[in-house]
Amino acid sequence: MIQPAITGSGVFTPQSVITNDELVAAFNAYADKTNAENADAIAVGDTEAIAHSSSDFIVSASGIEQRYVMNKSGVLDPDRMYPDLPPRADDVPSIMAEMAVDAISKALAKAGRGGAEVDLVICAASNLERAYPAVAVEIQSLIGAGGFAFDMNVACSSATFGIQAAADMVRAGSVKCAIVVNPEICSAHLEWRDRDCHFIFGDVATAVVIEPAINANGAHFIIHGTRCATEFSNNIRNNNGFLRRAHDQMEDRRDMQFMQNGRKVFKEVLPMVSGHITGHLKDEGWSADSLTRVWLHQANKTMNDFIGKKVLGRSPEPGEQPNILQDYANTSSAGSIIAFSKHSDDMASGERGVICSFGAGYSVGSVLVERA
Ligand code: COA
Repeated sequence: MIQPAITGSGVFTPQSVITNDELVAAFNAYADKTNAENADAIAVGDTEAIAHSSSDFIVSASGIEQRYVMNKSGVLDPDRMYPDLPPRADDVPSIMAEMAVDAISKALAKAGRGGAEVDLVICAASNLERAYPAVAVEIQSLIGAGGFAFDMNVACSSATFGIQAAADMVRAGSVKCAIVVNPEICSAHLEWRDRDCHFIFGDVATAVVIEPAINANGAHFIIHGTRCATEFSNNIRNNNGFLRRAHDQMEDRRDMQFMQNGRKVFKEVLPMVSGHITGHLKDEGWSADSLTRVWLHQANKTMNDFIGKKVLGRSPEPGEQPNILQDYANTSSAGSIIAFSKHSDDMASGERGVICSFGAGYSVGSVLVERA
């Protein structure tokens, strides 16, 4: 069997930032405006007034301080509260493809490869810009890759599931240079008018290059093992699929955007994830003590602190389990890869780590790597 390795990684970060204070000011303006419009219904108890959001709550409940977005003005307009990303003509690159190409070019540069050497592109993300042609095939064309390409969606776990698929093909010898890219426009499936979740997401794209370790041009991470698991749950759900326009009463349904039962997710996903990582380490013959780094999905700081403690049997040391969600918020599948990409160059040969993502499905994926 051929030994696969991650030979490069890259992150595309959008130019616009929204701080918690800016976000809360826009939300509160929207709440005041809506409450004024509904004053009579609120007065007789037919409608509940929308309460104000607060930056302090956001930081203490999630650890998020800001987020990057593809369009700021639409999100912060109290009359809109939705990104303004106009449809593009078919003959110009789609938004996801453009984000993906930026992240891929950084990952390929790190791997010392050119686009023409790529023979597999997996575009793995929690929402796809269109059904077909696959966004991955457009990306394949834009980077001048050969071989084949396809899209996949396992929500927040898309990146690790994509890595498993690509690593398996490298192991089997069917591909020689694979890209797994995760362009996430979470801002377009977040309901910015919902106080309980309006602060959660941001936009980004990440990419990794996966090749036979023997072909690596420089420092790389040997993939010792990949493991994926799923268990059906409705606690994180988005019903905005291709049937949306098949019924004339579906336009304003709240369930067409991101929905979650955050407390239940917390309670049910934590044991699933810590058990998954612990089981994977054990089966691979690795002890938790042998890990130098844990790159977790970036949804909530308290959640990550808890998982780190369960897996390591102690509180993680600073830097051992890097968080990026204070800067990026939850970027769905890309979160653990941003953490990996930005906090792995300093590792010495022989040091080990685990990349782990989790989320809707429920789904959890882990990748055990060793610096070489
Ligand atoms: N500003 C101020 N107060 C707010 C608020 C906001 N934006 N949103 C909620 N609150 C209030 C609530 O009204 C509630 O008040 P009450 O106690 O008076 O009823 C209180 O804060 C607690 O709300 P709750 O929703 O229970 O907060 P929480 O501590 O569970 O944190 C999440 C919310 C979403 C941050 C948290 O549940 C979470 O991160 N869950 C897991 C998320 C996850 O991994 N999802 C996967 C997505 S891919």
